[in-house]
Amino acid sequence: MQSGRRVFSGIQPSGNLHLGNYLGAINNWVRQQEEYDNFFCIVDLHALTVPQDPKELRAKTREVAALYLAAGIDPERCVIFRQSQVPEHAELTWLLNCVARFGELSRMTQFKDKAQRGGTETASVALFDYPVLMAADILLYNAHSVPVGEDQRQHLELTRTLARRFNHLYGETFVVPEPMILETGARVMALDDPEAKMSKSSPSPGSYIALLDEPETVRRKVRRAKTDSGSEVKAILEKPAITNLLDIYAGMTGRSVPEIEERYAGKGYGDLKKDLGEVVAEGLLPLRERALELLDDPAELDGILEDGAERARAAARPTLASARTRMGLG
Ligand code: TRP
Repeated sequence: MQSGRRVFSGIQPSGNLHLGNYLGAINNWVRQQEEYDNFFCIVDLHALTVPQDPKELRAKTREVAALYLAAGIDPERCVIFRQSQVPEHAELTWLLNCVARFGELSRMTQFKDKAQRGGTETASVALFDYPVLMAADILLYNAHSVPVGEDQRQHLELTRTLARRFNHLYGETFVVPEPMILETGARVMALDDPEAKMSKSSPSPGSYIALLDEPETVRRKVRRAKTDSGSEVKAILEKPAITNLLDIYAGMTGRSVPEIEERYAGKGYGDLKKDLGEVVAEGLLPLRERALELLDDPAELDGILEDGAERARAAARPTLASARTRMGLG
């Protein structure tokens, strides 16, 4: 039964979708799809805020779509689409740009981090405007709930601010959305650095397990994962690397961490890694095979995205129209 509550979330088609995306996000979406009215967007316009190779971007977009479907997201029940196929996103961004303030965007920590890396002088204007496009994504669909990781909290807060400000200036137009910060498995850490989140833009492929990695690659990456000093398999503060491996184990098997610790009592890190490599490689195999099958038929995938875009446009059009009218356009 659908509650009528609308959920919107997005993922960028850049880098490789990995185990953290799966355990932290996609898996939750699959479980919740019966309960809500879902929009899952492949945010290719967001990806363009940093340089992308056009061919690569197109390929990655299909890859994300294939992985969503392979993971069990049902395109009948959920609207899966690419952002750039719904021009309403770009247009609402412009309208919201007119109520967003330079000062508040200057305070976005993700922009500051990303811009600092390449130098603020050469950062694209779009990178600065990224959070406004994200607000447009969410507000267009009058989403109540936005499942995201902790790192997106500030962007969500800005979305709420823009919705309230617009409503105040021009009259009730947008639903003010609530963040749904994902807890379980939301923090899968890098295999080579348990202090950093597993990231799909990491330059070192050994730090993450891509959902399309071959089983042998998965086993090797787990085998080479960083461990902590000592030898006891325990999820404790002093053992962030082992804790991460245990969390992954729990996420993949549905068993609890204490249960897994018990199983490895008297054994060492090597045993844990050997089994975990197997658990992850085997666990991801059906997902990988199904995704590769889907990628073999790009026309079918594009058709699903086209259909999603049409349904998304139908939902977005009235919201954009009322924002335009309220602002004195049309
Ligand atoms: N900025 C989000 C991220 O990097 C991706 C995103 C874009 C998003 N638009 C969105 C997430 C709308 C939720 C809702 O994770």
